[in-house]
Amino acid sequence: MAEKRIIAVVGATGAQGGGLVRAILSDPRGGFSARALTRDVNSEKAKALAKLGAEVVAADVDDVESLKRAFEGAYGAYCVTFFWAHFSPEKELAEATNMAQAAKQAGIEHVIWSTLEDTRQWVPLSDNRMPTLMGKYKVPHFDAKGEANQVFTDLGLPVTFLLTSFYWDNFIYFGMGPKKGPDGKLALTLPMGDKRLSGIAAEDIGKCAHGIFKRGREFIGKTVGIAGEHLTGAQMASALTKALGQEVRYNAVPPQVYRNFGFPGAQDLGNMFQFYHDFNEYFCAARKLEIARALNPALQTFDAWLAQYKARIPLG
Ligand SMILES: NC(=O)c1ccc[n+]([C@@H]2O[C@H](COP(=O)([O-])OP(=O)(O)OC[C@H]3O[C@@H](n4cnc5c(N)ncnc54)[C@H](OP(=O)(O)O)[C@@H]3O)[C@@H](O)[C@H]2O)c1
Repeated sequence: MAEKRIIAVVGATGAQGGGLVRAILSDPRGGFSARALTRDVNSEKAKALAKLGAEVVAADVDDVESLKRAFEGAYGAYCVTFFWAHFSPEKELAEATNMAQAAKQAGIEHVIWSTLEDTRQWVPLSDNRMPTLMGKYKVPHFDAKGEANQVFTDLGLPVTFLLTSFYWDNFIYFGMGPKKGPDGKLALTLPMGDKRLSGIAAEDIGKCAHGIFKRGREFIGKTVGIAGEHLTGAQMASALTKALGQEVRYNAVPPQVYRNFGFPGAQDLGNMFQFYHDFNEYFCAARKLEIARALNPALQTFDAWLAQYKARIPLG
């Protein structure tokens, strides 16, 4: 049997990378093996990946030498950064640069860079529809990812730019799910007006990435946008109502109100939703459901995701 080609996966114990590792391992005839990168090879999550059949190696995206060692001998690399671990776009750019340099040195044949738009190309800093944050960003956790695209391009890497979407899992882990109002009724609060939010089951991102690697050179040099569905707040509230068996109302608030909610990252997310809202046609068109489904035939709809995870959504 032909030797399997190694995919080195950054963030393997997390949502995106974990999905990719599991997709590779559940497709033994797919031609790839998974090398899971983690800062702690002895963590429970790392051990669970090893048990599934992944090669688990130590690496830290802040340490370029560790990345070079971890990428050595691999065919592919899945590169992702962790904005919410530090809230620093500058750090994110530096981490992306480390991964790109390591991929270059290791001679990686296919890099997937998990990116998002540099929203400043649509909303320049001089545009006051939303505040400028951290001195030079509109949506800090988007902008540095988009800015980093150029680093991969400048190094001449064989790269696919993967534009991801809002994880529905945020309703479980990110405090974004329906909350009880003073009237005791559940409401899904989003500053999206009547526009559509491109959403996806986080696990499906890795499955789509696996599909991209399996297509060989087809997507090298290309941008691929993925989503599971584009749904309005009202549609999501209605799906939640059905799944949870209790009424969930859609509470559309202005972005300015959302920005002032005061939780860490509220301003960044308020700007993000406003970007989704104001450039809705572009945003949804850049994330094609048909492409995501072609790459990952098991792509979940919101209803399917809810059927699996509804019990885990905290209803505060
Ligand atoms: N939430 C959303 O809706 C959404 C949508 C689109 C894009 N994103 C983006 O997705 C990115 C996060 O990806 P994710 O959700 O897959 O992450 P995640 O589930 O939070 O996973 C983070 C994993 O990354 C590893 N990690 C953290 N810091 C690291 C470091 N310095 N070096 C190496 N590994 C490190 C950790 O593994 P170890 O502890 O094992 O090292 C952890 O398991 C963010 O940048 C975010 O902006 C999020």
